[in-house]
Amino acid sequence: MTANITSLVHVVRNAKRITVLTGAGVSAASGIPTFRGADGLWHRYRAEQLATPESFERDPKLVWEWYDWRRQKVATSQPNAAHRVLAAWSQRWPTCRIVTQNVDDLQLRAGTRDLVRLHGSIWEVSCWDRCAASPRYWRHEQVPLEELPPRCPHCGGLARPAVVWFGESLDPADVDAAQEAATTCSLFVSAGTSAVVYPAAAFLHEAKRHGATTAEINLEATPASDVVDMVVQGRAEEVLEQIEAALACGAS
Ligand code: OAD
Repeated sequence: MTANITSLVHVVRNAKRITVLTGAGVSAASGIPTFRGADGLWHRYRAEQLATPESFERDPKLVWEWYDWRRQKVATSQPNAAHRVLAAWSQRWPTCRIVTQNVDDLQLRAGTRDLVRLHGSIWEVSCWDRCAASPRYWRHEQVPLEELPPRCPHCGGLARPAVVWFGESLDPADVDAAQEAATTCSLFVSAGTSAVVYPAAAFLHEAKRHGATTAEINLEATPASDVVDMVVQGRAEEVLEQIEAALACGAS
């Protein structure tokens, strides 16, 4: 175990209240591609070119092909050790909050309690025209999709993934929950996120401003690395598993 992991074990053990913000890196070991790494490109498109209302307006089929591909990846993936350890923390410590930017359901499937999902769920869709007959969103779990793009069953218009795209607002209730988790914790951990997408990336700064100890677990340096009190460079699934093992055996 590296010195940095040992330090993190120590603060985890002594923390009164832990909040963990996760990103695509925690699902990488489950086979789900991240957005900005070398594996982040889908065909020759970047996430920012696909995850926007403008892209959908221009080419809904292309955007749905990308989501259909991601949905197939999620459907055939299993939670990994990072998901399992964080789920265990959320169950063991009632004040521990997990906030995720991931739209996959792996943290839920691992059993995370009270997960805050800032960017929504890949299994939910909504009416692109927000027709009066449709609910705000509904579950649509067909994999692969038979019809691309899928249709709103209420008006026959286009359905869209009910996830938050660039330029769109997050659900205020999710922002409030994340804000509360960030500003009341004594330890804030940023795990597997490039820390460049706001408002999610701001919660680390909020936590620090409110006096929390801050840590990052990532394969590489990010803008958060210069801000946090401790950086653990490594794979989230390995680092978290080592921390969990050290906690279990009483080492610090
Ligand atoms: P990114 O793809 O931007 O970043 C993933 C991060 O995970 C990178 O910093 C990698 O170094 C790191 N990483 C990769 N594998 C790892 C591993 N095994 N262990 C630890 N770290 C690892 O993904 P996010 O930060 O989640 O939003 O991206 C934020 C948002 O941008 C996403 O929610 C999505 C995207 O566009 C929307 O679609 C609105």
